[in-house]
Amino acid sequence: MFNDRIKIKQLLSGTPTGTEVVVMGWVRTFRNNQFIALNDGSTNANIQIVATLGEFDEAILKRVTTGASLKIVGTVVESLGKGQSVEVKAKTLEILGDSDAEKFPLQPKKHSLEFLREKAHLRFRTNTFGSVFRLRHALAFAVHQFYNERGFVYLHTPIITSSDAEGAGEMFKVTTLPLEGAPKNDKGEIDYTQDFFGKGTNLTVSGQLEGELGAMAFSEIYTFGPTFRAENSNTTRHLAEFWMIEPEMAFYDIEDNMNLAEAFIKYLINYALKNNAEDIDFLDARLAEEEKQLPTEKRSGLGLREKLELVVNNNFERITYTEAIDILLNSNHYKKKKFQYEVKWGIDLQSEHERYLVEQHFKKPVIVTGYPAAIKAFYMRMNDGCEPGKETVAAMDILAPGIGEIVGGSQREERLDKLEARMKAMHIPLEDMSWYLDTRRFGTVPHAGFGLGFERMIQFVTGMTNIRDVIPFARTPKNCEY
Ligand code: 4AD
Ligand code: MG
Repeated sequence: MFNDRIKIKQLLSGTPTGTEVVVMGWVRTFRNNQFIALNDGSTNANIQIVATLGEFDEAILKRVTTGASLKIVGTVVESLGKGQSVEVKAKTLEILGDSDAEKFPLQPKKHSLEFLREKAHLRFRTNTFGSVFRLRHALAFAVHQFYNERGFVYLHTPIITSSDAEGAGEMFKVTTLPLEGAPKNDKGEIDYTQDFFGKGTNLTVSGQLEGELGAMAFSEIYTFGPTFRAENSNTTRHLAEFWMIEPEMAFYDIEDNMNLAEAFIKYLINYALKNNAEDIDFLDARLAEEEKQLPTEKRSGLGLREKLELVVNNNFERITYTEAIDILLNSNHYKKKKFQYEVKWGIDLQSEHERYLVEQHFKKPVIVTGYPAAIKAFYMRMNDGCEPGKETVAAMDILAPGIGEIVGGSQREERLDKLEARMKAMHIPLEDMSWYLDTRRFGTVPHAGFGLGFERMIQFVTGMTNIRDVIPFARTPKNCEY
C-alpha cells in the first residue's frame, strides 16, 4: 500500500512518541542540511523532519529543496526545538518529485497578495491561502449543515437558463452559433431558433426563480452554486463568477426572512470559530501585522476574532431605507460633502453610503428594508399603503462592516394581479414567464428568500480585503487564467 501515511495535523495533535509513521508532503524549508519543514496542507503547522547528519546520501539531500515532495518513514520523537512538541526522526527519505529551487516561484519568505494572485496555481501552498481555502471548505460544509438541520431541500437549479432572474441584463450568452455568419431572421436579428437550445440562453445570474418553484412544493429549499454576472465591475467585491446560497421559503414574511438570514450568518461564523480556530488565529495575526502598516486613522482597532465574536454576540441593526437616508443626510460626513454620490430618497445606496452606515454609524451589520420599488427587481412584494410616488417593496439587504452588501433578498409578490402589473410596467414579457406565474396561479402563498454571496461571506470571516483572494480561480473583467 502506498498511502498508509498519517496527516501532519493528526501527527501534531498528539501521536505518541516512539511510533513509526509515514509522512508525505512538500518541503517548505530545509535548514542546516538537517531540518526539513514539511507541509501537507492539513494545517499551516509544518512537521519538522530530522535527517541526522551523516545518515543520508548527499545526492538525495541536495534534492530537498523548497517545493519538492517527499515521502518520509521515521519515528515520532519529542522535539527539543521550540514551536513544536514532536518531530520525526527520518529512517528513509524518498524524493517523490523534485522542485528546481531556481525556478520555483514561492520562496520561503513573505510574498505580496498581488504577486500570489499571478501565481494562483501555486498559492495554495502558502499559509495565508492554506487558511483561506480550508475556511472556504468549512463554510461550504456549514452551509449544508445549517439547512439540513432545518429540513430544507437542496435544490440544484440550472446553470444554463433562458430566463434573466434579476432583470438586470448582465448575462453571459450561451450559444453554439458561429460568431461570424450567424443565421438571421426576417428582422435581421440573430435567429436563435437555429441555436443549440432553439432559443437564446445564458449563464444563470441567480437560481431564485427556479428556487421559488421548489419552495412551492417542499416549503423550504436552498440552492448553492455558481452564478455569473457580466457586469464590468473591477472592484474588490465583484466577481464575474461567484457562488451564491439562495434559500427560498414558503410561509415566510420579510421578518421571518431577516431572522433566518441573521441566524444563518451567525451560524457560519460560529462554525468557523469553533472548527477552524487555528486558521482564524493565523489570519487574525496576519491582519494585525497588515494593520500596523496602515496610518492610525485607517486601523480598525479590532482583531479578526474580536470582530467575528462581536457579530455573533449582538443583534444586527434593523432599519428602513427611509431611516438610512435620514441618517446619511444628518451625518457630518454629508454636511462636509464627503460623499461622492448624491444622497436623497430614491437613490440606490452606493457602497460609500453602505459603508458609512455600518462602519461609522452603527459599527455592526445592518439590515435595511423597504427600498424604493423603482430600484428593485420585479418579483419583490409591493408594500401596502405607500404614498404615491414613494412606493416601496419588502426588500432587505444586509450590510456588513468592511464588505458592504453581503445579502440581498425580499418577500416575494405572491399576488398574481400585482405581479403581472409590475412585470408589464417593467416590460418583462409575461408569456416567457408563464411557468413562474403558475406558482401564483396554483396555490400561491406568502414566501420569501435571499441570496448570500459566498465569497463576500468568506471575505468577512477571513478578513481578506480582495474578493480575488477567497476564490481559487477568480474570473474578473479581462482575466480568466486557468
Ligand atoms: O443582491 P443580489 O443580486 O440578489 C439576487 O441575486 C437575488 N436573486 C437573491 C435572492 O433573493 N434569492 O445578489 C445576492 C448577493 C449579494 O448580496 C452579494 O453578496 C452577492 O450576491 N453578489 C456578488 N458577489 C460577488 N460578485 C458579484 N458580482 C456579486 N453580485 C452579487
Ligand atoms: Mg443586491
